[in-house]
Amino acid sequence: MDILKKIEQYRSQEEKLRWEGTFADYLKLVKEKPWVAQSAHSRIYNMIRDAGVEEENGHKVYRFFSHEMFGLEEALEKLVEEYFHPAAKRLDVRKRILLLMGPVSGGKSTLVTMLKRGLEAYSRTDRGAVYAIKGCPMHEDPLHLIPQHLREDFYREYGIKVEGNLSPLNTMRLEEEYGGRIEDVLVERIFLSEDKRVGIGTFSPSDPKSQDIADLTGSIDFSTIAEYGSESDPRAYRFDGELNKANRGLMEFQEMLKCDEKFLWHLLSLTQEGNFKAGRFALISADELIVAHTNETEYRSFISNKKNEALHSRIIVMPVPYNLKVSQEERIYEKMIRDSDVADVHIAPHTLKVAAMFTVLTRLKEPKRGDIDLLKKMRLYDGENVEGFNSSDLNELKKEYQDEGMSGIDPRYVINRISSTIIRKKVPAINALDVLRSLKEGLDQHPSITQELREKYLNFISVARKEYDEMAKKEVQKAFVYSYEESAKTLMDNYLDNVEAFCNKSKLRDPLTGEEINPDEKLMRSIEEQIGISENAKKAFREEILIRISALARKGKRFDYRSHARLREAIQKKLFADLKDVVKITTSAKTPDEQQLKKINEVVARLIDEHGYNSTSANELLRYVGSLLNR
Ligand SMILES: Nc1ncnc2c1ncn2[C@@H]1O[C@H](COP(=O)(O)OP(=O)(O)O)[C@@H](O)[C@H]1O
Ligand SMILES: [Mg+2]
Repeated sequence: MDILKKIEQYRSQEEKLRWEGTFADYLKLVKEKPWVAQSAHSRIYNMIRDAGVEEENGHKVYRFFSHEMFGLEEALEKLVEEYFHPAAKRLDVRKRILLLMGPVSGGKSTLVTMLKRGLEAYSRTDRGAVYAIKGCPMHEDPLHLIPQHLREDFYREYGIKVEGNLSPLNTMRLEEEYGGRIEDVLVERIFLSEDKRVGIGTFSPSDPKSQDIADLTGSIDFSTIAEYGSESDPRAYRFDGELNKANRGLMEFQEMLKCDEKFLWHLLSLTQEGNFKAGRFALISADELIVAHTNETEYRSFISNKKNEALHSRIIVMPVPYNLKVSQEERIYEKMIRDSDVADVHIAPHTLKVAAMFTVLTRLKEPKRGDIDLLKKMRLYDGENVEGFNSSDLNELKKEYQDEGMSGIDPRYVINRISSTIIRKKVPAINALDVLRSLKEGLDQHPSITQELREKYLNFISVARKEYDEMAKKEVQKAFVYSYEESAKTLMDNYLDNVEAFCNKSKLRDPLTGEEINPDEKLMRSIEEQIGISENAKKAFREEILIRISALARKGKRFDYRSHARLREAIQKKLFADLKDVVKITTSAKTPDEQQLKKINEVVARLIDEHGYNSTSANELLRYVGSLLNR
């Protein structure tokens, strides 16, 4: 019922948006809303901008892309600023084909699809409205009706530059149907739609070598030649090529570089001059963005072919690299899994993160500066705090390579491995170890991986595995503490009281007896030793903490266990150290006694309730951590 209502609603909205009038009416509209006369490039840019722009770390983040493209903010910023924006301003880049270059499954098609779906929606808004000569198969821009010799005047009055000539078909229609009265020509609002072939086209060469240009520019309609008497009568021509249909919007050109160069020339003259040749007619003006995609190898071989030289300057290449942030890679997997048919399988916490670590490591290049390793670089890239490094180190690292992210493991590979794990395991839960194992097995079957690369990747799998071991241990230990946060806070407060007394050379009061007692040196040391603070360094460390407390207090803030990263680590380690034996014995007991069983059930329940596990994955985790602690 609901869906039927929505369908009806949608239809009535469409009805409301419909507009039809004469060219004279249209001119009034243009006066009122000059943006309706913008070029296709400008409309695309405004669509992106209207969705919102945010500043983040000195970079612009375009919200238009941010709900589906993850971790590519910098590439997208470049794309908008070096292509869409200048193209919208009618600068020369507009006359070049936009070629997205990037590794396989790096999001190029997704990007183009977003632009297409975006345009469909945008043309239904006020800011994105598009109008065309009614009944024109190419939805020609009504302003083309203005004769060349009046365009100067038009510009003075309306501030709009008209580009392009009236097409042969509409030139004829103007005479035949409207008796030359431009002001009477009917104009209508159009709604871009790929399905209906309005303003959005996709061209995919069937056989790149013997491609028929008619697929792009339309063809003679032999059934009507007899009626109109001549092949050069535009009414005997079908303007139904992909370039015709995509007029006013966007055309995606798949496999462009695989096409014959003769074929490409047509296309390039279109972008260069803003028009193309069809049949026996004068050039046909077109207003559309042409976007193609390719991988690096294909592009290099295209570039190195002498025959293609003249084409280079007519293409603008924009890189679409792989994402290099672990947390964003996780989001990519989540999205891909949500869209797949394994969406209902339980994936244990950390599974996708661990897979993402492996993937990102394969994409990163070894830092040139010697003071940082790949794992730390990976963390910095993901915006984590890495001790001893800051944001200028991050920028420096990014500048070391221009072409980072152009190779490595692609997200689809990971998703395929995850799917095959799910199918094989037959239980409705998979964990990080399952996935790492599957990634490893997959490397043997991967056709394009050399022996050397395989070794390297296997090593990254071990690195990711080690990271996982740490996460797994922490998770279980936390779940063993009745209330982790509470316990950490209590221990911290206790430590701070003692530190304060120590530094002030004062005494503490026993909460039970009220007696004065000395600071508990043993307790303080047991915490400090967790992070390697020596006997000699303890005084400085304690004083530093007191200074931090009073600095925060001056700002009206309270010091808590999150305020000091090292102290936090020390507290955590101390809690875990105290627990270690219990955890070890409980998790690895072959036949747990009643007490242990109770504890295990409690921990499993906590893992399920508070940490996102299900009973299978929680039990698997406990068993694994038990085996780790017993090594
Ligand atoms: N940076 C990214 N953000 C979001 N999704 C991505 C990203 N990179 C790849 N993907 C996903 O990976 C899959 C393959 O991407 P696709 O656009 O087909 O790549 P390409 O056309 O470059 O080969 C898609 O499901 C896509 O959504
Ligand atoms: Mg693709």
